[in-house]
Amino acid sequence: MNKQALITGVTGQDGAYLSKLLLEKGYEVFGLVARRSSDSLWRLRYLGIEQQIKLLEGDLLDLSSLIRAMEESEADEVYNLGAQSFVATSWKQPIFTAQVTGVGVTHMLEAIRLTNPKARFYQASTSEMYGLIKESVQDENTPFHPRSPYGVAKLYGHWITVNYRESFDTFAVGGILFNHESPIRGIEFVTRKVTDAVARIKLGKQPKLYLGNIDTKRDWGFAGDYVEAMWLMLQQDRPDDYVIATGKTTSVRNMCEIAFSYVGLNYQDYVEIDPALYRPAEVEILLGNPAKAKVNLGWEAKTTLEELIVMMVEADIKRVEKA
Ligand code: NAP
Ligand code: GDD
Repeated sequence: MNKQALITGVTGQDGAYLSKLLLEKGYEVFGLVARRSSDSLWRLRYLGIEQQIKLLEGDLLDLSSLIRAMEESEADEVYNLGAQSFVATSWKQPIFTAQVTGVGVTHMLEAIRLTNPKARFYQASTSEMYGLIKESVQDENTPFHPRSPYGVAKLYGHWITVNYRESFDTFAVGGILFNHESPIRGIEFVTRKVTDAVARIKLGKQPKLYLGNIDTKRDWGFAGDYVEAMWLMLQQDRPDDYVIATGKTTSVRNMCEIAFSYVGLNYQDYVEIDPALYRPAEVEILLGNPAKAKVNLGWEAKTTLEELIVMMVEADIKRVEKA
């Protein structure tokens, strides 16, 4: 019999790629969709899977809607990807971020405990929890020191996941994912902001690109590779937490260089620094060690940063040409 999966955050970047993967594996996929006044299904359409997902109305802030979603989906696996996920916004809406990104995790865990305690639970934890890094390469044993209200909320979400595993024997895992991007990344995140600008500048529709701190470094991978790791974590004999990363770090500056040079431009001619885009506290560098995932899950990143950026620039050029 086919398995059922419930995905919160199904309209986001990872929700769309994970839905596609699970559909390919024969799952019946249910997606929790929060009520929005404008279209939020464009990513599902982009991947050609909109009609195959069973959408359930609900919100991580509303426990009863999560209980109903559990009952209606009869999910064997729950992937909690829903969050206020933009770090910069978390200083402007710290309480909202704490509620959705932090306490929302407990809502989902409670809905599972009350309806089907055997369901397996994936929590979208993050490298942002390392923040002011304590070790130059971060793994599952590296201490955390979050640097944003988002990171603090995610740390709560991570520990409540561990706590339900230890308290109630819930099959609950925390995937500590480093930054991952794709052509359907939100436009506010730096990679997509850059690839969209490269397309517009190349096609003569935008003169400059304004960025904040371009000397920070991130361990960037492709979202399509990373959702595979989420699924693998829930197929193991016992629940555990895993770092998912490429093991390489690159500055925002170098990422710009890769993107602009792909279309024959020099980023220095177009990128301007806007101090207003600097963050109140910054995560200067992230670099993950995915060795445990390689050994236990047989997972490793397949797509290089160069391949990823080219994929994103090409998709943005097509979009801008069509618009
Ligand atoms: P994303 O594109 O920003 O998607 C976030 C999703 O959460 C959207 O579907 C959004 O719905 C939904 N959501 C927001 N508030 C909600 C609420 N109150 N109730 C239910 N759903 C709500 O994020 P992503 O990049 O796919 O990331 C997926 C998850 O992984 C997030 O939890 C993120 O924090 C985490 N993560 C991401 C990365 C990364 O590099 N991408 C790395 C580590 C961890 P709407 O579309 O309706 O707003
Ligand atoms: N967004 C953005 N916009 N970032 C900029 C800009 C800009 O104009 N200029 C410089 N940056 C720098 C940020 O200060 C940060 O150091 C880096 O680019 C990456 O920023 P984002 O792409 O916004 O991602 P993030 O690292 O803050 O957070 C993402 O990754 C986390 C995992 O480490 C998000 O996806 C989080 O949800 C995720 O948990």
